[in-house]
Amino acid sequence: MEHYLTRFALVVATCNLLVAPASGKTCTVKSSGINTTDDAPAILDAFKECGKNGRVVFEPTTYYISSVLNITWLENVTVDIYGTLLWSTDIQYWLNHSLDVGYQNQSTAFILGGDRVQLDGHNEGTFDGNGDYWYEWIAQQENTSNYPGRPHAITFNGLRNSVVKGLRFLRSQMWTMSIIYSDHVVLDSIFVNNTGNRSQSSNTDGADTIRSSYIIFNNWTVYNGDDSISLKADSYNVSVTNSYFYNGSGIALGSIGQYYGVEEHITGFSVENVTFDNTLHAVYFKTWTADQNGYPPNGGGGGLGDASDMNFTNVFVTGIRGAAFSISQCTRFDGAPGEGNCTNSQFQIRDVAVYNLLGTTKSNRIASLQCSAVEPCTDIGLFDVDLKFDNGTAATDYLCGNVKSPQGFNCTGEPCVGGSASGEC
Ligand SMILES: *[C@@H]1O[C@H](CO)[C@@H](O)[C@H](O)[C@H]1NC(C)=O
Ligand SMILES: *[C@@H]1O[C@H](CO)[C@@H](O)[C@H](O)[C@H]1NC(C)=O
Ligand SMILES: *[C@@H]1O[C@H](CO)[C@@H](O)[C@H](O)[C@H]1NC(C)=O
Ligand SMILES: *[C@@H]1O[C@H](CO)[C@@H](O)[C@H](O)[C@H]1NC(C)=O
Ligand SMILES: *[C@@H]1O[C@H](CO)[C@@H](O)[C@H](O)[C@H]1NC(C)=O
Ligand SMILES: *[C@@H]1O[C@H](CO)[C@@H](O)[C@H](O)[C@H]1NC(C)=O
Ligand SMILES: *[C@@H]1O[C@H](CO)[C@@H](O)[C@H](O)[C@H]1NC(C)=O
Ligand SMILES: *[C@@H]1O[C@H](CO)[C@@H](O)[C@H](O)[C@H]1NC(C)=O
Ligand SMILES: *[C@@H]1O[C@H](CO)[C@@H](O)[C@H](O)[C@H]1NC(C)=O
Ligand SMILES: *[C@@H]1O[C@H](CO)[C@@H](O)[C@H](O)[C@H]1NC(C)=O
Ligand SMILES: *[C@@H]1O[C@H](CO)[C@@H](O)[C@H](O)[C@H]1NC(C)=O
Ligand SMILES: *[C@@H]1O[C@H](CO)[C@@H](O)[C@H](O)[C@H]1NC(C)=O
Repeated sequence: MEHYLTRFALVVATCNLLVAPASGKTCTVKSSGINTTDDAPAILDAFKECGKNGRVVFEPTTYYISSVLNITWLENVTVDIYGTLLWSTDIQYWLNHSLDVGYQNQSTAFILGGDRVQLDGHNEGTFDGNGDYWYEWIAQQENTSNYPGRPHAITFNGLRNSVVKGLRFLRSQMWTMSIIYSDHVVLDSIFVNNTGNRSQSSNTDGADTIRSSYIIFNNWTVYNGDDSISLKADSYNVSVTNSYFYNGSGIALGSIGQYYGVEEHITGFSVENVTFDNTLHAVYFKTWTADQNGYPPNGGGGGLGDASDMNFTNVFVTGIRGAAFSISQCTRFDGAPGEGNCTNSQFQIRDVAVYNLLGTTKSNRIASLQCSAVEPCTDIGLFDVDLKFDNGTAATDYLCGNVKSPQGFNCTGEPCVGGSASGEC
């Protein structure tokens, strides 16, 4: 653990060294001041002119963004955001034009990538997805999960040796942030509030990592209606520290195992000093079964690989709504056909430990572990657990299906076995 975190600290130091205070060219982006004029072209120009060895500044004003941005060429640049970037409400435009993320048929409004980027919102800079419009609209659709073309607020693609800090995200259109093909990135002091003003938000993950490594999430605060932070396929050496998650589903591993015959991994994950308030879980795993039904984003299955080497230390919960620690290997999204088999997944979960899990719960289930019979969960440990109901009575259940060599606890019963996208059925 110590070695692991030291390595991360070095990454932070390195990033600060590499990205010297900008002394090159500075581009200050001018806002049109009105949402009938798109500021995206002006933003693009600033990044073209000052995106290498320079500085791009957003003033303390509102910028109106009505078209997609794909900025991938950054190098040794400082980006200071003092204002608000507000995305347009033209849902049909975004459904038609949002950019492919490169995984799960997901799409995005904004791609940002490059080497040695220092992006600072100074705790003021805000990305406002105008999500109230999206939450009202999606609630009326048949498919409220992953609607084709519904964009993530931002995708970091090919971002390396970089620091993103002090940014606020309000009412993201869908997931707030996807991170793909990125490594050695520190995401520090990020505030996300995807609480809808008019309609409840859905599928508004805080962040999702895909095919990325050495990603540090520190001092995050997330109010949302889905995964607080989710690690997906081929996420290596990720940490989440000193963070606060409200109302969402908790930290998710997966969904994973969605691509038939494809091997994917989530390995080396460290979580420390994290608080969960009114979330469904603290931590949960969701893997697809061995049977393929349809295609991503809402269908799939039959994937291989493992989720392994993870430590969750100092996990504080208040009013948690379901099992604090949960595994479902029977992921099935709304609309996915077939009943299937919940214990045939070839994806394995192993070497996962929770140390010091404290607080209040509304569920008697400390853990619900619905694992595969083909690749049983191995070396799952829960140590120093103290979860109580509001009335002071301790929660007692550890429900196990196909759990090998549990550590620190004895199984007390069987979990619910059935299709689930949320960790329990
Ligand atoms: C990075 O950009 C700054 C100006 O912003 C410049 O002074 C410095 O030389 C650049 N570093 C490298 C390695 O090019
Ligand atoms: C522009 O702002 C108005 C008033 O807030 C809003 O009704 C409208 O949907 C916005 N238009 C776009 C394209 O964002
Ligand atoms: C979106 O695409 C549909 C169907 O191709 C088309 O009818 C509509 O005009 C497009 N809307 C926008 C805003 O691009
Ligand atoms: C974004 O731009 C890069 C080139 O800078 C291009 O290779 C990539 O295909 C574009 N992405 C999308 C989703 O259009
Ligand atoms: C996207 O969906 C199509 C069919 O709907 C499927 O063939 C394809 O594999 C999916 N792509 C990804 C990257 O998930
Ligand atoms: C943590 O992030 C919040 C924004 O959510 C910020 O106000 C605060 O200053 C940050 N704390 C530290 C120690 O940087
Ligand atoms: C989050 O947004 C909701 C809706 O606007 C608001 O009621 C709530 O106060 C916000 N929470 C925080 C902590 O800012
Ligand atoms: C988890 O803890 C174990 C035992 O202390 C350690 O060997 C392992 O390296 C840790 N893994 C991570 C990702 O922190
Ligand atoms: C977590 O909190 C403990 C106790 O306050 C502290 O010793 C430790 O350094 C913290 N860990 C991280 C990664 O900040
Ligand atoms: C599910 O699949 C497993 C592994 O192939 C098999 O042992 C089990 O009998 C199946 N269960 C049902 C209900 O078909
Ligand atoms: C405390 O609350 C739990 C959950 O409602 C209930 O099962 C338990 O009996 C209560 N304990 C006491 C002592 O009232
Ligand atoms: C598990 O049960 C065994 C046998 O009753 C007992 O010796 C052991 O202390 C229990 N372990 C825990 C962590 O409760």
